[in-house]
Amino acid sequence: MVLLHSLEELHKWQHQSGWSVRKTCFVPTMGALHEGHVSLIRQASKRGDLLVVSILVNPTQFDKKSDYDAYPVTLEQDVAIAEEAGADAVFAPSAEELYGGIPAASPVDYGPLTQAYEGAHRPGHFDGVVAVVDLLFDAVKPTFAFFGEKDLQQVAVVKRLAEERHPKLEVLVGSLVRDGQGLALSSRNARLDEQGLFAARHLSQTIRQVQSAFAEGASVSEALELGRLQLLERHDVVLEYLDAVDARTFRPFRGQMSDSAYVVIAAQVQDVRLIDNGPLRT
Ligand code: PAF
Repeated sequence: MVLLHSLEELHKWQHQSGWSVRKTCFVPTMGALHEGHVSLIRQASKRGDLLVVSILVNPTQFDKKSDYDAYPVTLEQDVAIAEEAGADAVFAPSAEELYGGIPAASPVDYGPLTQAYEGAHRPGHFDGVVAVVDLLFDAVKPTFAFFGEKDLQQVAVVKRLAEERHPKLEVLVGSLVRDGQGLALSSRNARLDEQGLFAARHLSQTIRQVQSAFAEGASVSEALELGRLQLLERHDVVLEYLDAVDARTFRPFRGQMSDSAYVVIAAQVQDVRLIDNGPLRT
């Protein structure tokens, strides 16, 4: 496995590896790799000939500098994990190298996909995601790119980006991975202490409550209200949103039942912002 820091190194390696006649799988990450990433990398390793994992904490997708500054950076460990999971190359450029200067992102408007939920609560977030993913797709030129289901809205945004700007590329989605007590794995969990981890589990518990209430005959609005009320009682979880959406459009879901109906939640625990989701119908 090789570790590449510049676009020049990446392109040289691609040339030497016969990139043009092989299928490249790509897993973009911001590092601090956990089992969720590992399962994505393993899934990707079965799909093509060359597997590139990128690691870059992308400054343009953070709406708060404090969040960017607190993001864990564990490159050496990440490289070992990526290699073990089957990567052929880790591409870890500096932001300046990838952006070709000072990192900046232009506004992107895909309607509710970029403006609602995560887009509304983290202004500019998807501008930064689209900017960096577009640059990474241009650099790596993958056949398949893999994204985790935990970032459900990001998946929909990236699919739209791929449709518009990288039509030959196929975006594939890896299942959300949870710990033994249901907490969705996230690099941000590393910033929670034991109490925080306990509180954080209430996100997935709330999703399960909504799913059960809905399965038992409550309407979508009633099931969501129940979930919101339960969370209001907890002072260690600050709810940002809990809703049911159509995962393809990120419009609120209230209509005829469909497999793309998902419960989405975002909340802060110990000042760490966490998101989770699950299908409305289980
Ligand atoms: O999901 C992430 O880790 C990031 O948003 C991504 C896709 C690597 C872009 O920086």
